[in-house]
Amino acid sequence: MTVQTEQTKQTEQQHFERTIGHEQRIEPRDWMPDGYRRTLVRQIAQHAHSEIIGMQPEGTWLASAPSLRRKAILVAKVQDEAGHGIYLYSAAETLGVDRQDLTEQLIDRRQKYSSIFNYPTLSYADVGTIGWLVDGAAICNQVPLCRSSYGPYARAMIRVCKEESFHQRQGFELLMTMMTGTDEQRAMVQESVDRWWWPSLMMFGPPDDASPNSAQSMAWGIKRHSNDELRQRFVDMSVPQAEVLGVTLPDPELAWNEERGHYDFGEPDWDELSRVIRGEGACNDERVARRTQAHEDGEWVRAAAAAYAQKQAHPVVEERTA
Ligand SMILES: [Fe+2]
Ligand SMILES: [Fe+2]
Repeated sequence: MTVQTEQTKQTEQQHFERTIGHEQRIEPRDWMPDGYRRTLVRQIAQHAHSEIIGMQPEGTWLASAPSLRRKAILVAKVQDEAGHGIYLYSAAETLGVDRQDLTEQLIDRRQKYSSIFNYPTLSYADVGTIGWLVDGAAICNQVPLCRSSYGPYARAMIRVCKEESFHQRQGFELLMTMMTGTDEQRAMVQESVDRWWWPSLMMFGPPDDASPNSAQSMAWGIKRHSNDELRQRFVDMSVPQAEVLGVTLPDPELAWNEERGHYDFGEPDWDELSRVIRGEGACNDERVARRTQAHEDGEWVRAAAAAYAQKQAHPVVEERTA
């Protein structure tokens, strides 16, 4: 390496570190270390895939929503998730990767999506519980990402979070309506919360001491809080909401700890999380198969869009005959 290129590299590295140190944003035009770029691509792609796969569990209830109002709310929510996927794929593309390639990596199972979407939705109460707990956990994870050091990711998160807040409220409102209904409806809500509570806690990832990449992500300002901090925040937020709803969270160890100023809670089943991440959850195969089918069904749309774009770029000048 020549003296000049060595100096340029040092200046770029210093500029990157200063930008991060001053809590300013890294933009696509800026130099960034390979590891920073790779970490962001992995995280943003995984996030985009989660939004798109996340349409499936609730999407199955679209055709059997109990009223037109509930159907309209659910359609809006599922459609929002598609939009979140699109913002995030666009953010990933600013890092020099291709959306088509990311989709293929999802289908080939080389890239992951959130473990939570590998659980089945067994009743309409699950639509409410997913909104309340799953979108609630997503909000805890995503609000700090609005301050992420990578500009396009942080900006995408601002809009995503506004919509997630609607998702959580519609879920809570649905559960509240059911809780003021019949005994059977209350039992449906409790049964649903019993199934979703623990998987929601797992959404924050493994415990901090088993999460080796977290420290580097935090040093780069990609991540702002550790998995355990965010999990605690979610528990503290959810317990009073469960009391308002009148549901019991299925954890006998859940208790207010005066000294810590937080709720104590039990240990999630980390083996279950590992199994689901490995692809052995109840719905992994079904989710990826559905996504693959949708991708294949969309082939003609992509081909038509590409042909149209090509035509716009190189218009054929028709020759006129006199
Ligand atoms: Fe979303
Ligand atoms: Fe959502």
